[in-house]
Amino acid sequence: MKSYYDNKVILITGATSGIGRELAIRFSESKCTLLLLGRREKRLLELQEKLNHGVCKVFTYKCDVSDRAQVESAYKQMKMEAGFIDIAVLNSGVSYRMPNSGSNVEDGESTFAINYFGAVYFINELLKDYIPARKGMIVGVSSLAESRGFPGSGYYCASKAALSIYLESLRVEMKKHNVKVITVKPGFVVSEMTDKNEFKMPFLLSTVRGTDIIYRGIAKEKRIIQFPLRLLVLIKILKLIPPALFDLLGNMKEFQKVKR
Ligand SMILES: NC(=O)c1ccc[n+]([C@@H]2O[C@H](COP(=O)([O-])OP(=O)(O)OC[C@H]3O[C@@H](n4cnc5c(N)ncnc54)[C@H](OP(=O)(O)O)[C@@H]3O)[C@@H](O)[C@H]2O)c1
Repeated sequence: MKSYYDNKVILITGATSGIGRELAIRFSESKCTLLLLGRREKRLLELQEKLNHGVCKVFTYKCDVSDRAQVESAYKQMKMEAGFIDIAVLNSGVSYRMPNSGSNVEDGESTFAINYFGAVYFINELLKDYIPARKGMIVGVSSLAESRGFPGSGYYCASKAALSIYLESLRVEMKKHNVKVITVKPGFVVSEMTDKNEFKMPFLLSTVRGTDIIYRGIAKEKRIIQFPLRLLVLIKILKLIPPALFDLLGNMKEFQKVKR
């Protein structure tokens, strides 16, 4: 069966686990070329071995997206090996719980370096090719957590808010260049990141289900892919409530309940 992803060169950053890994598995069902990136080389090579089954072609890149020089060098190598990148899924991300008694500034710097600048460095390289070619697609993975400053997740929420706003500005600007920009805003999806969470995660989706929504959303070239609907509605309501009520909710025991 023909697929939207046939004959496309697709980059996925953060392909060693969770959503990125699952997306790579889904894309590998099409006749595409996959460029998989992450820091854990052994994981990349295992995935390459698993997916190199004749339908798709897989290349791997060990790279820390928070290091601009590493991103530039990986991008150069990708172009040499695979040519023009049709779809760039910028998915690498980290989340640290902030301690209650004051924050660790290094965690904040690292969160922004990976979640925000990790995407910006790649976009900077991609646009040098996308604008003259008048084609290309950037898929930035943000989060529904961008919408308010949730207690204990200040760095994460702030980094995702920055990324969403940046992607929105880019999307509008890139329209005249025929470059597509998609923002993905997942709710809770099972992954190494959410495995660490000690709080209850409402409407938690399996990795396969969460990834399937992203996979179908990209093929429809949606501007924003946000899910699940029930959490989205809750978030929209939370966004509207006044600060005093948000403070009250944030301090309620129920809100901070640890998962079993
Ligand atoms: N799961 C959720 O509920 C959820 C919800 C909203 C948004 N998101 C977003 O979805 C994305 C994927 O997260 P996930 O849930 O799948 O978590 P995950 O399983 O922890 O995956 C994170 C990926 O990011 C990569 N990464 C982290 N730091 C990196 C760095 N410095 N350089 C290159 N790659 C790096 C990791 O690879 P290496 O460690 O090998 O480098 C890993 O492949 C993230 O941007 C996250 O914020 C997730």
